[in-house]
Amino acid sequence: MEIILITGGAGYIGSHIALELLKSKFNVFVIDNLSNSSTNSLNAVEKLTGKKISFEEGDIRNQDFLDQFFKIHSIDCVIHCAGLKAVAESIQKPYEYYENNIIGSLNLIKAMKNYSVKKLIFSSSATVYDENEKMPLFETSAIGQGQNPYARTKIMIDKILQDEVMSSSNWSIIVLRYFNPVGNDPSCLLGEDPKGIPNNLMPLINQAAFNTRKLTVFGADYDTPDGSAIRDYFHVSDLAIGHVNSVQKILQDKNDLKIFNLGLGQGISVLQLINIYQDINDIKFDYSIGDRRLGDLPICYAENKLAKQELGWQPIFTHHDMCK
Ligand code: NAD
Ligand code: UD1
Repeated sequence: MEIILITGGAGYIGSHIALELLKSKFNVFVIDNLSNSSTNSLNAVEKLTGKKISFEEGDIRNQDFLDQFFKIHSIDCVIHCAGLKAVAESIQKPYEYYENNIIGSLNLIKAMKNYSVKKLIFSSSATVYDENEKMPLFETSAIGQGQNPYARTKIMIDKILQDEVMSSSNWSIIVLRYFNPVGNDPSCLLGEDPKGIPNNLMPLINQAAFNTRKLTVFGADYDTPDGSAIRDYFHVSDLAIGHVNSVQKILQDKNDLKIFNLGLGQGISVLQLINIYQDINDIKFDYSIGDRRLGDLPICYAENKLAKQELGWQPIFTHHDMCK
């Protein structure tokens, strides 16, 4: 069976992808520098599947490491998740974001070219779309200037990949634009476990529920039914299955770049998500209403028809499942 390399595979999304790939009988190799994760997630995946993950600790900023890796290992397809992802931190530390995300990706592309591995799936984000675009967002919606350094790295990598494919060098590339992945594998043996203070809503809701941090709702004065902002939350296991479908497609595709939105295709508000979480888990916790967060959109959700048609992807998990 084919060997799939996941960069950043010990992280939240990468470990869920590893799990679903192993379940679908692919072999999985992970490289990760463990800057925002640990090997606990990979141990959990091995325990759940009874299968082995090959792991090498290493940094994609290190070209020699990547060249050595591809020299030794025969890889059929790369899923590129490694990178930094915290918007606020990217404003504080732009260099680190450009270095990790852009130089890291360029190094990976170079090593893949050197060793003729030309199948790549890239973790992109809804953040690349222009903030003035109408909802829902289509893959053809306009790309923005990027609201922050993190967003700009995703936009730049998108363009680099498009230019590589245009250079007719036999690439097959799938760019997956994630909306708001949340939740964890139903086994609860792996999940979102970031180092430091989380940025995203769901891990902050978890911490509020366990009383380890206070939750603030960023704005309740938006033009939405309850005043809080609306997002397209979808289950990380659905996201992971979207990658399995992408691998299956890319192993057959030639010389192409395809872009797919991955999201539920509908939005719910911050307050709705908090209420669902409290109901389904039969738990109550306090939260306060604060100011809007700079750069936040009132409403953001996907049109996901293309992924359904071309990847045969059908998200199955509900908002209740995401919160349970
Ligand atoms: P994560 O931080 O849990 O996983 C990223 C992994 O990459 C971590 O294990 C980290 O240790 C590793 N890493 C970082 N820099 C590295 C480097 N230089 N070399 C090797 N490994 C490195 O984040 P995640 O939520 O799993 O996100 C995965 C990808 O998906 C990221 O590219 C992120 O931008 C993208 N994405 C995430 C979301 C989201 O909501 N989580 C949304 C859109 C896009
Ligand atoms: C954010 C990033 C986006 C990135 C994505 C995944 C911004 C502006 N966007 O998307 O670039 O791709 O994460 O990493 O940061 N919220 C609260 N209180 C909190 C935290 C969040 O009310 O403590 C609200 C936010 O205002 C937002 C919603 O919850 O309305 C979701 O926030 P978040 O999980 O950070 O995702 P996005 O902002 O959609």
